[in-house]
Amino acid sequence: TTESLETHFERTIEADQRIEPRDWVPEKYRATLIRQIAQHAHSEIIGMQPEGNWITRAPSLRRKAILLAKVQDEAGHGLYLYSATETLGADRGDLTERLISGKQKYSSIFNYPTLTFADVGVIGWLVDGAAICNQVPLCRCSYGPYARAMIRICKEESFHQRQGYELLMTMMRGTAAQREMVQEATNRWWWPSLMMFGPPDGDSPNTAQSMAWKIKRHTNDELRQRFVDMTVPQAEALGVTLPDPDLRWNAERGSYDFGEIDWSEFKEVLRGNGPCNAQRVAHRKRAHDEGAWVREAAAAHARKHREAA
Ligand code: ACO
Repeated sequence: TTESLETHFERTIEADQRIEPRDWVPEKYRATLIRQIAQHAHSEIIGMQPEGNWITRAPSLRRKAILLAKVQDEAGHGLYLYSATETLGADRGDLTERLISGKQKYSSIFNYPTLTFADVGVIGWLVDGAAICNQVPLCRCSYGPYARAMIRICKEESFHQRQGYELLMTMMRGTAAQREMVQEATNRWWWPSLMMFGPPDGDSPNTAQSMAWKIKRHTNDELRQRFVDMTVPQAEALGVTLPDPDLRWNAERGSYDFGEIDWSEFKEVLRGNGPCNAQRVAHRKRAHDEGAWVREAAAAHARKHREAA
């Protein structure tokens, strides 16, 4: 009966066990997971663009090999996550359609431009650092396929974070112009990185239900604070200044206080009016259109094999 299925679902969540694809779930649980995982997958795929922009201009063979590997990892994460949505009954082609028609979101952070090679380092340090903060708790998400996907993804994100920080350390040991470039990129990426965690808890419509279902394990503000606390000492070690005059240690809280985030900028980016939204979606659409013949050929090939069998 529905009641016993529902009880089973609730007991599984309560006991901190995993929900698996064949288990009965409330429709809203399914919809929430598809929404979050699809948005996450879209972010990985769109996220290939800002850094992909520097592959042809990487300053050395070593930097180019690292950057190529990283951007390929992101493609892998996206495909892995689309597979996780398929275990919930979503259709990958349909999700891509929703992305390029603007019906589904992807992370705000990927709508900012990469102006210098220091941006590659700062994205690794701050953007991938924020992603790790947000994603490590998702390894304990109540939905099994998503939780397991996050374990591997987090390992690779940690490599991405380190390559960025190492790149920046190298530039900071370089010329004054290189140090200036790192500082300037840090100034541009700091606030958008804080916005990655989503709206403040009071304005986050999905958090309460997602926490009750153990999809999310912490609120947006908790993770944002954790990220600030982790990043300030890294900035000091690097020798860059985070662009926030209100940033200071609060001994009472055992955390750093920080300044007010410009939520109007965040809302504009979500509405499609960030510096690169139109360009990112147009590029994705072009790649999708140009790949149509590959999908058709693969489908025809599969059909032939089925018929021959
Ligand atoms: N960029 C774009 N949209 C965002 C962002 C952001 N940084 N933060 C929140 N939103 C959207 C939410 O998707 C939601 O919109 P929707 O209801 O239309 O889907 C709305 O703003 C309100 O936010 P919340 O109620 O707080 O939404 P939610 O509970 O889903 O929390 C969060 C948002 C924290 C991003 C969550 O979805 C999550 O942890 N996702 C998985 C991680 C992820 O997607 N990372 C992508 C970037 S990192 C990377 O790929 C390298």
